[in-house]
Amino acid sequence: MRFDPVRDLLTIRLSIHMRLWHTKTVWEKLARQDPYWAVLTDPAKKGNRWDLAEFFATGRKTVELDIAAISAVVPELPRGRVLDFGCGVGRLSQGLAAHFEQVDGVDIAEPMIELAREHNQFKERVTYHLNPKGDLSLFPDDHFQLIYSVISLQHIPSVLIPGYLEEFARVCRPGGLIFFQLPSQAQPTQFRFSWYPPTLWMRVKRYILTKTTIRAEMTMNSLKKERVLAILAQNNVKSLQIAPYHAAGDLESFSYLFQKGSCR
Ligand SMILES: C[S@@+](CC[C@H](N)C(=O)[O-])C[C@H]1O[C@@H](n2cnc3c(N)ncnc32)[C@H](O)[C@@H]1O
Repeated sequence: MRFDPVRDLLTIRLSIHMRLWHTKTVWEKLARQDPYWAVLTDPAKKGNRWDLAEFFATGRKTVELDIAAISAVVPELPRGRVLDFGCGVGRLSQGLAAHFEQVDGVDIAEPMIELAREHNQFKERVTYHLNPKGDLSLFPDDHFQLIYSVISLQHIPSVLIPGYLEEFARVCRPGGLIFFQLPSQAQPTQFRFSWYPPTLWMRVKRYILTKTTIRAEMTMNSLKKERVLAILAQNNVKSLQIAPYHAAGDLESFSYLFQKGSCR
């Protein structure tokens, strides 16, 4: 087939919209079924068994450790406005409120944002936004002093991650910081044994069901470290530190700390 720019661009855009819609649908289902477990998948807490005080304490602890790691590299960490990207029910945003004046949490799933608003202890300083888009156009350029995202990018289809990284660079203030976690290693493809029912009609029904039902299953995605570095370098952002960050099971995963340059 020959290259046709209009057709091919339309196909890419359509595929991006489909993936966004799929991600949103999956996370809304997860959030309705077992929201706290969907955020922090401790097997012992499956089935709505998280104690909420314990759950939010994990957020404060994670933020404390991450802020300490960032401050070790940038001792004069600015404490103004921070973005918590993929905020879920606000576990980390609430922890960030202890360190920053203004926190904006963004998530693709409406039930997550609703719960985040319910649990918001700092209504004057923490704001939650529903953002079903593949960009961060709800925020102006040069808006945040820190962009923060942990265990969220890994659940976004890899094809969409570069667009968000470019947006991190755009909404970060000159001199501001970008800190996020992301696996670099792809999840091995899983082959599932499937049992085919005997009659043709059952096979057809099974086929239609698997093609049309969106199951509430988390996917684990990644972007190679070299690709992450290239995308941010192209957007006037320099790398300050890359460190192993174990948050993606056995997959190799890193925390990245970047600083946006002062002029474009
Ligand atoms: C495992 S939870 C982590 C939530 C939070 N970062 C925490 O650690 O408490 C992942 C979150 O990413 C959100 N998410 C997935 N795709 C997203 C997207 N494209 N934009 C914004 N949020 C997204 C999900 O809805 C979910 O709330």
